[in-house]
Amino acid sequence: MRRLTQKEAGAYYTPDPVVSSLLQWAVRLEDDRLLDPACGDGRFIAGHRNAVGIEQDLQATQVAMARAPWALVHEGDFFSWAAETAERFECAAGNPPFIRYQSFNGVIRARAIALCGSLGAHFSGLASSWAPFLVCTASLLKPGGRMAFVVPAEIGHAPYAAPLLEFLVDRFKTVHVVAVRKKLFPELSEDCWLLYTDGFEGRTQEIRFSVLDHFRPSSRPPREFARVSVKEWRSEWNRRLRPYLISQHGRELYRHLATGCDTHRLGELANVGIGYVSGANDFFHLRPSEAEKWDVPGKLLHPTVRNGRALPAIRVTTALVERWKANDDPILLLKLSKTDDLPRSVRRYLDTDAGREARQAYKCRVRDPWYSVPDVQVPDYFLSYMSGLEPSLVRNDAQCTCTNSVHSVRLKSVSARRYLATWGSEFVQLSCELEGHPLGGGMLKLEPREAAQVALPTRRAIERVPAAEIAQAVHTLRTWRHYGES
Ligand SMILES: C[S@@+](CC[C@H](N)C(=O)[O-])C[C@H]1O[C@@H](n2cnc3c(N)ncnc32)[C@H](O)[C@@H]1O
Repeated sequence: MRRLTQKEAGAYYTPDPVVSSLLQWAVRLEDDRLLDPACGDGRFIAGHRNAVGIEQDLQATQVAMARAPWALVHEGDFFSWAAETAERFECAAGNPPFIRYQSFNGVIRARAIALCGSLGAHFSGLASSWAPFLVCTASLLKPGGRMAFVVPAEIGHAPYAAPLLEFLVDRFKTVHVVAVRKKLFPELSEDCWLLYTDGFEGRTQEIRFSVLDHFRPSSRPPREFARVSVKEWRSEWNRRLRPYLISQHGRELYRHLATGCDTHRLGELANVGIGYVSGANDFFHLRPSEAEKWDVPGKLLHPTVRNGRALPAIRVTTALVERWKANDDPILLLKLSKTDDLPRSVRRYLDTDAGREARQAYKCRVRDPWYSVPDVQVPDYFLSYMSGLEPSLVRNDAQCTCTNSVHSVRLKSVSARRYLATWGSEFVQLSCELEGHPLGGGMLKLEPREAAQVALPTRRAIERVPAAEIAQAVHTLRTWRHYGES
């Protein structure tokens, strides 16, 4: 079998000071049996004489065995082993692989999800590997057992982290999440935080949450922590910990205004969706000169926002579209219906080499007819969903359509426009930071479901909250997503 790449296997090994800090807390007695469910080169199991490690990579297993000859190292998939083993442990520590759902697939994934389901943790198809690793590891603890792990910062916002945290608060006496701003793994775009859980087979109504600027070696989790009520985390913050990165006062101001009667969520005012997917952008987007060359009738060409970078700050106007055309930009979507007869000139274009190539593209192959691009809409606004500083909401005054490089926002009623006028305000920026999520590299991403949650108060309501506090909260969240860092 081909050896997986470092990324495919999620094989990024933990720095020594982090390893020894987690071990010092997790292992209390010499006799304690320690489990590392994904032991890599054995750096956790090397730190304690009574240890078991599982690792799927043969070469890493060999290094682990050489490094910790006293340990029991199993080569293979952790989930198969976990489903069979009768062993139980006082403690577990490590750094589970972070393999996103697109690559965490096949038999291993099916086995992992089924095992978690049988343990009472129900993950959707979008869960990354590390969350099922933690659920299954917890299930192998003895009553009173504990775990200390490096976890992706996604634990603070990803929807699939919610079933994990629900599972943990239902099974442990204490659950402590430590957010660490400076990267534990400088070579990775993902941030990592730390997770400590203690007292297996207990339960808790709170999540302890500490905020550190940078990791400091320590034999225990930080003494200072906020007590996040699980009830509040569920009902007020959509089961996210990220809002607890800002001050309590900042959160209270936000909640007060976001839930006030002068405020609407974007999803109440508009439908937010993705733009169309052509399947072969270069073929379906013609330059005016190409349209002329192939004699494509104007009524079959629709001006489009092909790329988020083309968006102006406030409005897409007909004058702007005329400029794009004068520049001969490839912004004319070939919009063909499923049923209409095609003019001969268009059939000629579809039969070019480029057309033959385009119809082989996956999205074209799976639709009938291949040349009819579905879901072409004319939205009222375009919303950039990957932003450095802030997402922009741009009014569509030119009847353009858009690709999936931006979100399409279609108003539910004309009167909704006045609420959107506060988009650029600091308060709405805070809402975008809280409802969206960091993407690495300083970027903020707003999925359609997240954009639908953005809170839009009236201008008058915004003026009533202290602007400096809101600006501070925005700044804090940008700092946590490393905006502006080189
Ligand atoms: C992030 S590394 C951590 C290694 C070590 N615990 C450390 O912290 O340095 C994750 C490890 O999980 C292993 N792995 C990935 N999928 C696995 C699976 N299904 N079963 C066992 N190990 C797996 C990878 O090969 C990789 O060595």
